[in-house]
Amino acid sequence: LPLLLDVIGAISFSRPFGFIEAGDDGGIFKRMQNSLSSISWLMYVDWFYSLHQRLMPVIGNWLAANDRNGHFFNFARQEITARKDRAGDTKDMASQLFAVQHTKPELDDTNIAFMMASNVLAGSDTTSTSARAVIYLLLKSPRCLQRLFNEIEERKSDGRLSYPVKFQEAESWPYLQAVMYEAMRLYPAVGRNLDRDVPAGGLQIGDHWVPEGVSLSFHCSCTSKVMILFQTMVGSTAWAIHRIPEIWGPDVEDFRPERWLDEEKVGDLSESDLYDPIQHR
Ligand code: HEM
Repeated sequence: LPLLLDVIGAISFSRPFGFIEAGDDGGIFKRMQNSLSSISWLMYVDWFYSLHQRLMPVIGNWLAANDRNGHFFNFARQEITARKDRAGDTKDMASQLFAVQHTKPELDDTNIAFMMASNVLAGSDTTSTSARAVIYLLLKSPRCLQRLFNEIEERKSDGRLSYPVKFQEAESWPYLQAVMYEAMRLYPAVGRNLDRDVPAGGLQIGDHWVPEGVSLSFHCSCTSKVMILFQTMVGSTAWAIHRIPEIWGPDVEDFRPERWLDEEKVGDLSESDLYDPIQHR
């Protein structure tokens, strides 16, 4: 994780956070773990979150989720201030957002700090989990490791491998891509449900009809109108979907990158609208 946090620092601010060099992450991993565990249940009881936030001046901060807008936000804000005073890669995320600021001043430094705090939280643990899955599964499968080495050697010998490797190059290596898809299928970095709001009018999912949410509105003496929205949500977890034999076949538990390749295309949902192993939509 410290390595991937440093990578996030480099792509976001043109500067690794220095955790690898120091051999210490300054407790950030523990904070991240606590914060994510807190967010994963709080997202289903948002009334509890609202209540906690209101009572916080009296009871103090009990929710690690608040680090998202506290510790991680401050961390990102400091990095943004430091980045403004320092030259860096004009392609890093911070400088691209600073460029947008010129045309859209409403994107202020606070907004950018929130976006960067999201990157630190959302971009490090996920990439670390996925990279470790790739390495672990390849080490357990010498046949796949050898096939990947062959692909690398082939690219190297015909001059299609730069050092460091370019994104466009790596993206065009079929076996490397298949290895990454397959590792993320077996060890999806985000295990929680990825919820979506049911649209107005309801939603048919297979044989199930899911009604839309309800909104209650009433008048009270202190405010003119109070509206409470009970939104219906549906969601799925990649850990379940990625191991359904009807989709993937009887070898669902096996690490077999070939299932993603043109030569086979069995259980390949990579081009489908329904599936994306990262589920970034
Ligand atoms: C293999 C690597 C990654 C995986 C598996 C992954 C997976 C995910 C998933 C599943 C979501 C939730 C999407 C949803 O609710 O529909 C998400 C959100 C997000 N990801 Fe990634 N991600 C990865 C890498 C990154 C990186 C490198 C960055 C940034 C540098 C990033 C930034 C974000 C942000 C900003 C969000 C939105 C978070 C929020 O709603 O607060 N992710 N990611």
